[in-house]
Amino acid sequence: MNELIITKPDDMHLHLRQGELLKTVIKDTEKQFARAVVMPNLNNPVMNVTLAEDYYNEIKQSCSVFEPLMTLYFTDQLTEQEIKKASASPKIIGIKLYPAGVTTNSSHGVKSIKDHYHIFEKMEKYDLPLLIHGEVNDKNIDVFDREKVFIDNYLSEITSLFPSLRIVFEHISTKDAVSFVSQSSEKIAATITPHHILMNRNDLLVGGIKPHNYCLPVLKRKIHQEAVLNAAISGNAKFFLGTDSAPHLKYEKESACGCAGVYSASNAIELYADIFEKNNALDKLEGFSSFYGADFYNLPRNKSKLKLIKQQNKILESIPSEAGEIIPFMAGKIIQWQSFDD
Ligand code: NCD
Ligand code: ZN
Repeated sequence: MNELIITKPDDMHLHLRQGELLKTVIKDTEKQFARAVVMPNLNNPVMNVTLAEDYYNEIKQSCSVFEPLMTLYFTDQLTEQEIKKASASPKIIGIKLYPAGVTTNSSHGVKSIKDHYHIFEKMEKYDLPLLIHGEVNDKNIDVFDREKVFIDNYLSEITSLFPSLRIVFEHISTKDAVSFVSQSSEKIAATITPHHILMNRNDLLVGGIKPHNYCLPVLKRKIHQEAVLNAAISGNAKFFLGTDSAPHLKYEKESACGCAGVYSASNAIELYADIFEKNNALDKLEGFSSFYGADFYNLPRNKSKLKLIKQQNKILESIPSEAGEIIPFMAGKIIQWQSFDD
């Protein structure tokens, strides 16, 4: 098959930032995706409905038909009242929870998850989804084990105490997360990034450290990579596309203390198409990228289409922006698919 026309996809986990960086990266996403769930971890976190609406307007100034699906940042100050307000706002799709300090711009995250169960109860009542960065931030827990420990110490309890709460386990990176989600109720789903499918920790650490492959959750062993790949291509509607594309400037990545985050938005759908084809699962690509996420969030499926053509496509070595240079994921590599707005 050399040509594929699919319903225009949605990116269910995306970092757009602000200012000049936003103006550059939104163009890449808009070419391939009709909508995206926009992460709230700005320097000033998007922690209430007013800030989310301001951020929505800022994004809309830099795009045309693209629709941002806004999230609120779950802080220790989040109130039941704000949950009610968020659930009534057509622009807000869910609440994003970061355990404090676990990743980029997460210092405002919650310090003790169990102190916020009354908020989960309200979210369950209003059917407002909870989006979770599922890793513990504990200096005694090895960075490669943080996702599994989060499942064992938190997620299992949350899903059993709040059985009707819709939860997206974001950017899953382990076989443990794949089995947890597979065995959970239909209220629990997960997003899968291209980098957690295409790479394992050797790609980060062997032959010299590769800062552009550093992200959180950190890349794991091959056995986990394979489990995540198999979940993505399985056709199971609990697993859907979320790139976690997270731009940082080149100098912030190539540094003594490099930032976590992989910028994949420039070639995202093409990377997934490449993966699905190589694994004889191209027939499952549309469900994963355009249907299951929308269905989970109770959104209508997109009407517009995206054309993918099988042809050599070289990923740019570098992307300029007024804010500085961004190095895309797999810079300079050749992939076999190219997307065109239909
Ligand atoms: C993200 C970022 O840079 O905002 N980084 C990352 O490694 N994924 C934050 C996040 O989603 O963890
Ligand atoms: Zn993210």
